[in-house]
Amino acid sequence: MGKKYFIKTFGCQMNFNDSERIRGILKSMGYEPTDNWMEADLILLNTCTVREKPDHKVLSHLGEYKKIKEKNPNAIIGVAGCLAQRAGWELVQKAPVIDLMFSSFNMHHLPELINQAQAGYKAIALLDEPPEDEDKLWEYDTVRDNKYCAYVTVMKGCDKNCTYCVVPKTRGKERSRSLESILDEVKRLVDDGVKEIHLLGQNVTAWGKDFEKPLRFSDLLYEVSKIDGVKRIRFTTGHPSDFTDDIIEAMAEIPQVCNALHLPFQAGSDRILKLMDRGYTKEEYIEKIEKIKDRIKDIALSTDIIVGFPTETEDDFLHTLDVVERVKFEQIFSFKFSPRPGTPAYDMEGQVPDEVKRDRMERLLNLQKKIMGEICKRYEGTVQEVLLEDTENGNKLIGRSTTNKWVSVEGGKELLGKIVKVKIEKSSPYNMSGEVVEVMA
Ligand code: SAH
Ligand code: SF4
Ligand code: F3S
Repeated sequence: MGKKYFIKTFGCQMNFNDSERIRGILKSMGYEPTDNWMEADLILLNTCTVREKPDHKVLSHLGEYKKIKEKNPNAIIGVAGCLAQRAGWELVQKAPVIDLMFSSFNMHHLPELINQAQAGYKAIALLDEPPEDEDKLWEYDTVRDNKYCAYVTVMKGCDKNCTYCVVPKTRGKERSRSLESILDEVKRLVDDGVKEIHLLGQNVTAWGKDFEKPLRFSDLLYEVSKIDGVKRIRFTTGHPSDFTDDIIEAMAEIPQVCNALHLPFQAGSDRILKLMDRGYTKEEYIEKIEKIKDRIKDIALSTDIIVGFPTETEDDFLHTLDVVERVKFEQIFSFKFSPRPGTPAYDMEGQVPDEVKRDRMERLLNLQKKIMGEICKRYEGTVQEVLLEDTENGNKLIGRSTTNKWVSVEGGKELLGKIVKVKIEKSSPYNMSGEVVEVMA
């Protein structure tokens, strides 16, 4: 019997893609996946530490998973990801049950680390910086659950140092993956039946700047679009300061680039944006959005917002609401400010009480609900392009529109993996349904 692994992933899409890569490494070692952690020989938690809540979740899961040792004393419990990188040693002390630890810097060392842990040693491998040989990681394929849409990491780390954010500490400085390596993976994915490529990085718009001969992110979009079989391209996340006109042009020109853009603005007040060190003002952000809307018709915008950053006043917060009101995002991801150890905002004076954060969050969500109600009605009667990616109960299929909305239609399995035109009949804030009027590709 082959060995089995169970993996649980927290956090962002980058972390999710890291888990897909870890699964590829484990597959190459002969491990098979299981959904039941009690029958696993290896339990791995791929962690996030961007806010306090995910930190707590990891500890409570470890408390539960340690029961595996009663049944299988040789089972290995491992922790990977951003919490390991930020506070690994502290975590091992709190949870001695951990046998194995590594971060996004050294995922490619996993085979040796597992061997060490199996030999009975604690394999805790935390590095201050990414090692020279980290590109070895790309030699492994990913293991994915979605047959038609795939993430491709193009950029690691972040050089921005927003004052609230722990990511530059957990993922290191910006490193662009080489063009050849990216295109090579895209080709393999397309050969495997993938239609939609989602380029990933904490700050993808900085891609290529660190090459000896610098390239631009827009160059990457054109190159990926030239590969036969790439029907759709998405990317996450862009930073407003690096979101240059050439990227807007590329989005408008390349037919495969989806009609959606996630561009976090975090806060509306110029004073708070400065304290956050975001590098733009409210009006500069809005101007950029106007330019994008002018050039790309009906683009669906989404964003991230933090409420209750230290010293945020009611007046500052009203500027955040004003941006939401003016831009009309199709989706917002909003977070209460969470002080992260080791970041400048951690012990800034003027921390905002939790009840104020909660109140602001609620008002923000209510405003967004109202806006969504208006936006979603506009979809009714329109025709949307949808990539059908899964079945839904009975005779239904679901997929995402290029504007990143879930759409359900009636249809048989032969339509799976196809891009179809759908006439939208019903539209609610988070999903839509309609009738297939044309099968495209
Ligand atoms: N690199 C991406 C996102 C990184 S983290 C970007 O810059 O867009 C995802 C989101 O978490 C951020 O956009 C921010 O809104 C939120 N976030 C990060 N640190 C936070 C903190 N300390 N408290 C609350 N939210 C935070
Ligand atoms: Fe964090 Fe800012 Fe970098 Fe995003 S751009 S990962 S919020 S430091
Ligand atoms: Fe979390 Fe690390 Fe992503 S801290 S948001 S998993 S970069």
